[in-house]
Formats: sequence, C-alpha cells, structure tokens
Amino acid sequence: MNMKKIILGCLMGAVLLCGCAKKKVQPEWMKSEGRFNVTSGAQTKTPQAKTEQAQATEETAEDDFVKEAKLCELAQKYGFKVGACISYNQVNQKYYIDMLTGDFNTTTATNEFKAYSLLNQAKSIAEGLPVMNYTQADRIAKLAKENGIGIRGHVLVWDAYMSEWFFREGFKSDGLPVSKEVMQERLEYYIDQVITHFETEFPGVVYCWDVVNEAVADSADEWVEGNEFHLRRTRGGSINLFNAIMGADYVKFAFQCARKTVNRVNPDIKLFYNDYNTFYQDKRDAIVKLIKYLNNEEKLCDGLGMQGYIGGYGQQAGCMNSNDLALIKTAIKMYSDLGLEVQLTEVAVRNYEKEQIEKHARFYGELFCTVISACQEGANFTGFTIWGITDNPNMPKNDYSYKMNGPYCGLFDQYYKPKNAYKEVYKALE
Ligand code: GLA
Repeated sequence: MNMKKIILGCLMGAVLLCGCAKKKVQPEWMKSEGRFNVTSGAQTKTPQAKTEQAQATEETAEDDFVKEAKLCELAQKYGFKVGACISYNQVNQKYYIDMLTGDFNTTTATNEFKAYSLLNQAKSIAEGLPVMNYTQADRIAKLAKENGIGIRGHVLVWDAYMSEWFFREGFKSDGLPVSKEVMQERLEYYIDQVITHFETEFPGVVYCWDVVNEAVADSADEWVEGNEFHLRRTRGGSINLFNAIMGADYVKFAFQCARKTVNRVNPDIKLFYNDYNTFYQDKRDAIVKLIKYLNNEEKLCDGLGMQGYIGGYGQQAGCMNSNDLALIKTAIKMYSDLGLEVQLTEVAVRNYEKEQIEKHARFYGELFCTVISACQEGANFTGFTIWGITDNPNMPKNDYSYKMNGPYCGLFDQYYKPKNAYKEVYKALE
C-alpha cells in the first residue's frame, strides 16, 4: 500500500467513525430493547397466570405423552447436543433452570459473553489495555458447570453493538481511531484473555467459541465492493469498524489469534464461524468461499454455526415453509463436506399466529427429522441450540423479539409447559 492510500484510508476511517459517533443510525433490532435482546419472555407464575395456564394446558396437553429421557439424551445417538440459550436474569429463575437442566446439555449466553458486555471502558482507560468484567458471564458458567452443561462461547468478534471506544486512542470515547496495528494488538490480547479466562476458571465448560459472527453480508449495498466473501462493510447504516480499521483480513486474523490460544490452553476447544441466513444459496456460497480461504493453509475454523431463524421476519408469510427444510439439509451437508462440524446455534421456528400452533408443532418435528436424516447420511452435525425456547404471546408487536422469534415460536409455552412442538421433537428423536 502506498502512502497516499494509507492517508486516504485513515481519513475515511476517521470520517466514518465520527459519522457513527454523531449520527448513530440504530439498526432495527436495537430500537425497542436497547442492546440487550430479550429472547425468552417466559413469566413467573401468578395466581392469574395459573388460570391462564389451566386454559393453555387444555390446548396443548396430550395425556398419553410420557417423557422417559431428556431431549439431549435422545439426541446422543445421532451425535449432537441439544441446547437452549440463557441470560443472566434467568440464572435465578427456577422455572427456567428446571427447563434447561431437564432437557439440555449445552447453553449459550444471549449477551453476556459478547465483547460489548465484557469490556470495561473505565478500567481499560486506566490500565491502557482491554480490561474485562466477567461477573455475569462467570455466573452463567458456574451454573453450567454445576449442572454438567457445556457452553458455546458466543462471541469473540461481532461488529453489531460493538463499543466504539475500543477502536479509539486511549479507549476514550472521543479519541482518534487507532491504527490497524494497534487494533490487531488489542484484538489479539482480548481474544487470548477471554478464552484463557474461561478455560482457567471453568476448565472444559466452554467447548467451542464463535470466533466471528455475521461477517458475511446479505446484499451488495452492505458488503465490501468486489469482496468474494461478501464481507460486511455496513449493517443497517452502522459501519463494521473491524473492517474499517483492520481491513478485510480481520476475520482470518481473529481466527489465527483464537487458534493460537486454544492450542495453548486446550486444543479440544472448537472454533466456529457463526451467521444467519446460512442456508440461502447466495450467502451460503459466500460462506463456503470464506471457509475455504480461512482453512487453506492450516485449519483455523472447525465449525459452522447456522443461527437458524426460520420463517418470515415479523410476519406469518414465509413461516413453516418446507422448502426451508430442504435448504437447511443441503447447507448442513455442504458445510460438513468442507470438513467442518455443523451446528444450528440460535434456532427460532417462527410463528406469529396462535391458530397455527399445531402446524408449528409438526414443522418443528420435521425440522428435527431433517437434521437427523442429514446425520444419517454422514453429515457431521453436532449441536442444535434453541433461542426462541418459550412462547411469549404478550410481547408487543414492536418488540425486537416479536419479529425475531415470533410470539408462538416455543417448544414450551410461556409457563414452561411442553407444547405439542416439544412432543413432536421428542418423537422425532426417540
Ligand atoms: C444475533 C446474535 C445473537 C443475538 C441475536 C438476537 O443472531 O448472534 O447473539 O443477539 O442476534 O437475538
């Protein structure tokens, strides 16, 4: 790169950063919940809720159903774990924990392991290094450890909601953007510290890490022009600061750092690339190219996380479409053929209409049958984690989670009672 280009690059970076600071365009999903997404709205029981529950029970129960094993035990024969996400608030909610421990052997923290949650600005300024606060994440890790549940570490590098000060001199909100070299040092340090922390404090609990999340964009107006992996340049108007400062190679760089650390602390920890819309052809093919590039010299990436939001976004049209099942199976096989483990990592089988609950139940069962048949045909499918685990019918329509998951997406109703969807899944795995 010549000097002119470097100066131009820096200027553009600065302009973009300033632009972000001043005119922060909020992506749609930030609007209602702020940065912390509520992914399960299940409620604690109240007397009135109990009456409602009695009603719900009539609608969902099949008396002849007998549970003899946990879902995760049933899935063992196919070689995959079954999981549900958890947030810090749920750690002390008995009903939630009973549900989690009653069926699942893997969990993912919804927000607490993310950089924007861990990084502490004041301490980073004081020490001149990234400093993390692990209080909430450790609480989740402790609970998982005590219950013999593994954790998907989610996520080391994600442009969304990322703290801008992390990219600025002195970690100050009004600092100038740092150079690529400084950013590389910071990121390497951050990745090394975080992986090492959990492996030291909770050995073997975090069995994989999403190293990078959502780096492949969906449309040309959001990706770096000419980039064959469709690398994300912007997201809903906010620029991808990792790309802006470190360049398109930040993805490989992050994997190299993570690989170095796991080689040192525990080589059994698997490194994943995680994204949404991974079963749609254009994005899938871009991701395949990215993985080939990441793994062309040494195997940096062990696994592909397919988030698994399935169905129309915010609307019933497009929900429970059997073509999606075919696409999911094809994608699982394609990623597996690259020598990767494949996992569904944030499943929400969307459904917005109460009247469609039975159709939704059958579709959920078919989704598991699809995954099982991919396993039987040799795919290396290793995990199925559900994000939209309970219904949340009282969620306002403008709530971020309403659109993301749908109010009737659950395997369980809002009182943690297994729905027929649960029973269909059970039967599929039995
Ligand atoms: C993405 C992220 C998740 C979560 C969801 C929204 O899929 O990977 O961590 O924030 O968005 O619920």
